[in-house]
Amino acid sequence: MKPIIAAKNVRNERVKNVDFELMEGTLTTVIGPSGSGKSSLLMLLNRLTDPEEGEISYKGRPMSDYPIDELRRKVGMVFQQANLFDGTVEDNLKFGPSLKKDWDSKLGVSLLQKVHLPEDMLTKDVEHLSGGEQQRVALARTLANDPDVLLLDEATSALDMRTVELIEELLDCLVTEEGKTIVMITHDLKQAKRIGTYTLFMNEGSLEEKGNSKELFNNPTSEALMRFLEG
Ligand SMILES: Nc1ncnc2c1ncn2[C@@H]1O[C@H](COP(=O)(O)OP(=O)(O)O)[C@@H](O)[C@H]1O
Ligand SMILES: [Mg+2]
Repeated sequence: MKPIIAAKNVRNERVKNVDFELMEGTLTTVIGPSGSGKSSLLMLLNRLTDPEEGEISYKGRPMSDYPIDELRRKVGMVFQQANLFDGTVEDNLKFGPSLKKDWDSKLGVSLLQKVHLPEDMLTKDVEHLSGGEQQRVALARTLANDPDVLLLDEATSALDMRTVELIEELLDCLVTEEGKTIVMITHDLKQAKRIGTYTLFMNEGSLEEKGNSKELFNNPTSEALMRFLEG
């Protein structure tokens, strides 16, 4: 297996010791205390920030070699808040940069199906949607670009359990059936144990531990991770 994203000796003012490889078609969880640098790490992966030292590559080439628009379509990000703009669901979905020209409502319907929302929602104003529905629209909007990699920063943290389950199912399906690569920050350790196969543990800005999720949870090697897992 080839890594789709690889970080070598990466450091900036907020993170250090960042070295990892993410394999295509896997789901990686990022865990660690609040303020440990999880979001700062994720921001490096679609060039919201750049390393001061070291290099991050995407499909074997430095990320900085790609036009930034192309890179951000290929590596999509979803945040804790849906960040939709005023207008209908369809307005938001067709915002995807590659879709503005030849948008077809059928595409909107298939995107809504993907996130298990009814097709008549396409013409609704987003302000009338629940938080969970809005978050699924945000996910659908990112999927509209057909990204290879999805970055999720606490994307399910503000949602009710039923919606969390729906989204977890969807993520699993994106990985196993479509071969997407997902990197997901979560502060919910139960969630991190439920989903994903690889885990990165951030502590005080440092990538302290990484590995197969089961091994990492069952046999933490660093003092910091042991403490963190004990809560
Ligand atoms: N916009 C910012 N400017 C400067 N420092 C920041 C900014 N955002 C976060 N930080 C600092 O960077 C460190 C890591 O934060 P962050 O990556 O948000 O952690 P986490 O996502 O794990 O909670 C913290 O010390 C935080 O105070
Ligand atoms: Mg964060």
